[in-house]
This record gives sequence, C-alpha cells and structure tokens, in this order.
Amino acid sequence: MVALPVLQPRPAPATPPRSVRLSLTDRCDLACVYCRPDKRDGYLEDRLEIDAWKTMAEGLVRAGVRRVRLTGGEPLLHPAVVEVVAFLGALGLDDLALTTNATRLARHARALRDAGLMRINVSLDTLDPARFRRMTRGGRLDVVLRGVDAALAAGFDEIKLNAVVVRGENDGELEDIVRWSWERGIVPRFLEVMHIGEGAKLKDRVVRASEMRARLAHLLHGGEALAEADRGPAKYLFARRGDGRKVGFITGTSDTYCKGCDRLRVAADGTLRPCLATNDGLAAGHIARRGDPAKIAGAVDDAWRLKPDGDVWKGCTEPDAASVSMRGIGG
Ligand code: 5AD
Repeated sequence: MVALPVLQPRPAPATPPRSVRLSLTDRCDLACVYCRPDKRDGYLEDRLEIDAWKTMAEGLVRAGVRRVRLTGGEPLLHPAVVEVVAFLGALGLDDLALTTNATRLARHARALRDAGLMRINVSLDTLDPARFRRMTRGGRLDVVLRGVDAALAAGFDEIKLNAVVVRGENDGELEDIVRWSWERGIVPRFLEVMHIGEGAKLKDRVVRASEMRARLAHLLHGGEALAEADRGPAKYLFARRGDGRKVGFITGTSDTYCKGCDRLRVAADGTLRPCLATNDGLAAGHIARRGDPAKIAGAVDDAWRLKPDGDVWKGCTEPDAASVSMRGIGG
C-alpha cells in the first residue's frame, strides 16, 4: 500500500507582517525607464473605495502591522490621499510614510503633514532637466523641485531622496545628488536597478552598490554599511566630515535581502501581496468592502503563508520577478 502524502498548510514565516505598503493607485503620471514601457500600459479596473481602505487599514493593524507606507503608482494622484493619511494617522502607528514622484507634492505637502504623515521619500534620479525628461519620459524637473521645497517647508520628520542609478544615464551624478541632498537635510539613497518590470530589460545598465560606494569614497567613511532597525533593506554609510549626514544603498540586485523580511504589500484592488518579486497574492478587496476588519486580519494570516522562504528566496533576481509590475506593487 502506498502511503498518501498528508497535505499540510504551509506554516507562516517566523517574522509576522509588521510593515505594509499600500498602493493606493497604480496610476502614475510618469513612465520611468526602469519601471514601465510608456504611459499607456494599462491600469487596474477595480480600485478600493475609501471606506474599504479604512477597513483594510484597521484589519492590518489587528494583524500586527505597525508601520505603513503609501505608494502607487503615484499615491498623490489618488483624490482621497489626504483623507487616507488622516485616518491612518489616528491609528497610533509607529511609522506613517509616503513615497512620491513629487509632481503633485507642492500642492499636497502641507495638508499631508497636518494629517499626520511623518516621513516622505521622493523618487528623483537626476538634477538635470533634460535627463529627467528622458528618464521619466516627459517629466518636468522644475515641478518636482518645487514639490521638494514644499516638503522641506512642511517640516516632515525625515525626507529621503531615492535615485535609481542607470549606467550611461545618471551614474556620473552621484556626488552632485549627495551634495544637493545634504545641503537640504535630505538623506540621499541610491538603488540598483532591479530586474523587475522594465528593469529586467536593463540588466547591462545595472551599477552595483560597491561601484557607487567607490565613486563616493572620498565623501564617506569606509567599513560596513549598516541597516537601520525596523527600516527596510537600505544600508547606510556616514559622511567623513562627521556631521551625521549619510548615504543609503539599496542592493536589490547584487545582494538580495529576503531573510527576515516583514513586509506585506496591498495592491490598489485590495490584493494582499507578500513579496515584491512575485505576482502571488490573495484577493481581499471583497473582504475589505464588507467592512469587517477581523476578516481582513484573517486574510493577512492566509496571505502571509504565501511568503517565499527568506532563507532561500533571492528576491528580484528570481526569474519570475521580470513579470511583476513595479507600478502595480509600489516598490
Ligand atoms: N529597480 C529599482 N528601483 C525601482 N523603482 C521602480 N522600479 C525600479 C526598478 N526596476 C523605484 C522607484 C521608486 C521606488 C518605489 O522604486 O524609482 O523610488
């Protein structure tokens, strides 16, 4: 007699989801070369309404989430973004942040701060207007810089700049970006192009963090770059001049960082996605629309069992990652 295998539900990862990224909308007004092919590559039809987002947020907190980041697409294109921030701001989270391309930040920065947003990341790859136009397929740098000024004036706890480094494009600009950021009290961070979405087509244009570091060596202390507690995969080096300024590196390609990952993502249609580098997920929009946060907390537990094993999984270098839409999952 052949023994039948007993099907066991996969155990949930040891680390529970503590950090969540809510992709409020998959719409974006730019088309960065490493993200999407053009501005007409199709959007989700089904997007959560504001009340469903509120239920989603309450359920996530019940499931143990302590840190929330709003992403997109471009989250400031969502008409109710300030209302969502205010709702989240009242939940007593440890961290409430937003990632934006800053094209609409000039008009929203003050209201977001007043609504309880703590920190902001601006995606900005270059300080050269022509290069910006090229890398974003039509974006206007002056508009973005006005957005950054408004964020500085609004007094967030922290502003970071995220620059994706593309060889032959902005890789000669690292020092300028660091100096520009430091002058303004902004923390610059450089990202390796990840082989995800359109980034998979730029494999020969990846600049590894080790090379970025070498280019900035005269500005930075040597030694091991260090991650910040509870703050995601970036590793930082401090300024040689000892004023506490730092530069972050995100090594999505040369050194994946899945072990201990505590991140969950929620797509604009309410799908719970446990990993940036796969399209696996659990549809929970219909649950959120029923208005019962306890049911969301249950769905989070189920979704978390789909999380790849961080001890062996290689994040965005896994072959499947090329089929993931960065715009849909929010980075
Ligand atoms: N590789 C690295 N970073 C990327 N981003 C989008 N696509 C890629 C990619 N293929 C970045 C954006 C933004 C953040 C959400 O992710 O520039 O800063």
